[in-house]
Amino acid sequence: MATEESALDARQMAGFKDFYQFICTTRVIAGRGLIEGAGFEFSKEGAKRILVVTDEVIRGTGLIDRVEAGVTDGGLEVAGVFDDVPQDSATDVVARCAEAAREQDADSFLAVGGGSVMDTAKAANVLFTHGGEIRDWEGFYGLPREDDGLGRPLPLAPLAAIPTTAGTGSEVSFAAVVKDHEEHLKMEVADFPMFPAVAILDPEATRTLPAAIAASTGMDAMTHAIEGYVSSEWNPHADACALQALRLISRNLRRAVEDTSDDEARGNMLIAASLAIVPTGSGAIGITHSMSHPCGGHYGVAHGVANAINLPHVIRFNVAGGADIADRYRDVGEVLGVETGGSDDAVGEALAAHVTDLIGALGLPSRLSEVGVPEEGIPRLVEGAMGDGCTIVNPREPSEEDFAELYRAAL
Ligand SMILES: [Fe+2]
Repeated sequence: MATEESALDARQMAGFKDFYQFICTTRVIAGRGLIEGAGFEFSKEGAKRILVVTDEVIRGTGLIDRVEAGVTDGGLEVAGVFDDVPQDSATDVVARCAEAAREQDADSFLAVGGGSVMDTAKAANVLFTHGGEIRDWEGFYGLPREDDGLGRPLPLAPLAAIPTTAGTGSEVSFAAVVKDHEEHLKMEVADFPMFPAVAILDPEATRTLPAAIAASTGMDAMTHAIEGYVSSEWNPHADACALQALRLISRNLRRAVEDTSDDEARGNMLIAASLAIVPTGSGAIGITHSMSHPCGGHYGVAHGVANAINLPHVIRFNVAGGADIADRYRDVGEVLGVETGGSDDAVGEALAAHVTDLIGALGLPSRLSEVGVPEEGIPRLVEGAMGDGCTIVNPREPSEEDFAELYRAAL
């Protein structure tokens, strides 16, 4: 007869893993008044002449003037401001950003913005340092290394990030995702030197963020934490980050959306977003993301909104994949204050209902049909989801029919 202990050891998602790697080389500083100290902090990373990368909306809020003042106050120079990043950045934007850095004789990048801005700066840094086009560097661990590619990766120019949304976590990740218009797909470049040298988390940078975007990006962070925690790539280091991210999200997301001047809640959401992405260091997360990527690609649904809509359905699907998976969701439920004592299905249902209630309270839509996804679009969405890199690390393997059913449930 199996003892309780040996039953635990036999579980797929407990015990001691044969291998895992936990990486986050970004120095994170969080607190108040850090924008004013941006130059002082960035000088410690070797930056001297900085290209500020941002978008026009953020520049229009006056935040960039304050960042520039903070840079010069620290004894550094602003080589220029590249504010031409669109909401969904693309390969041509990245090329122009790298060119701007060269023309203006910059030696470093300071990204001030959301995921698109930060990913643009990270990808532009690759071109600035190593040349070529972004598609030359597509994929994981493909940047030049010493010793015929076997040794230490060659360093990139110093890059700092000041996120203005609390969601993507790009400020502490080594991946950049950009659109390739010619190929109609998203390209990912990821390697160790792409971790930003420093991430500056200051609630002042999210002060002008509209409530609706605070809500959707916050749900993206929540999805990272939950998907990362239940992923087949789970590991104890990442677990600690994911659960703490969820604690912060459960206490601060609604506050940060309901009162845009609540600095404490907004600051805590910035910290939560950066913790939430750590479990997903590889960029692979789970099938909520697999479902949401094609919703964005084909129908322009905002990433966080698509995740919020799809998440409850994926929770129900995954929980039904076995007791070991359900136990991971029990942990998530416990942290979020959801009833976790019942059957596996009951835990999934309670957690899914909790997420649905939350997105309702945040004023987000709860159905894909509300955000422009038609029923006849399901086959192409299924195709995209099946081929998405996030699918392989999901704890339960979905079939085409499973994805179709999930989309129908979310419609
Ligand atoms: Fe995401």
